[in-house]
Amino acid sequence: MKGIVFVELIRMAETVIGESAVDDILDQCDLSTDGAYSTVGNYPCSEMIALVEAFSRHTGTPSAELQRMFGKWMHEHFVSSYPAFFTDKPDALAMLAAIEDEVHVEVRKLYPEAELPRFETERLGADALRMTYRSPRPLYDFCHGLVEGCIDHFGHRADIRREHLSDTKEHACAFTINLRA
Ligand code: HEM
Repeated sequence: MKGIVFVELIRMAETVIGESAVDDILDQCDLSTDGAYSTVGNYPCSEMIALVEAFSRHTGTPSAELQRMFGKWMHEHFVSSYPAFFTDKPDALAMLAAIEDEVHVEVRKLYPEAELPRFETERLGADALRMTYRSPRPLYDFCHGLVEGCIDHFGHRADIRREHLSDTKEHACAFTINLRA
């Protein structure tokens, strides 16, 4: 997993619980780099999950909720770092439908070592989309937060239903997103 993900996770945690609490938590975790992540490095995804769990123990906020909060945070980072992807899309559903064949394709060109999920999308009408997530990594809640961040960014309100599909060969779930009028 890209170092930028770790750098942003630590930045979010510092914003919420402060730098010294984050330093203490990093010291207590068994991390490959002692918590000194570089934006250009690559680190195991299991370490991101372990960090979220450590922040969860410290704050009492369930880790699923923190991972989702982090997805929203990361979406804001993507908007400010890669604005061009967002400006030519009419709405959040068009943006979400473009992640697999446009956005993550470009990400792979820039960072061949990136570990990305696969998405299938199906338009269910002008205001509805079904998006299936498949990944070797179980980042359902992170993905949920990214979807919510995308909806917020375009100024919509939406109902999001999440359906668990598999945890055996791969991790998969489907999001059905209905924009509210
Ligand atoms: C401009 C917008 C976006 C950019 C530049 C981008 C880029 C990236 C990058 C760099 C990673 C990390 C890969 C790694 O750690 O090796 C990632 C992961 C991920 N992205 Fe995107 N992304 C964007 C938008 C989105 C959106 C809107 C979604 C919502 C569905 C999404 C879903 C994910 C998920 C779920 C992962 C975690 C990897 C996994 O679960 O296997 N991304 N993305």
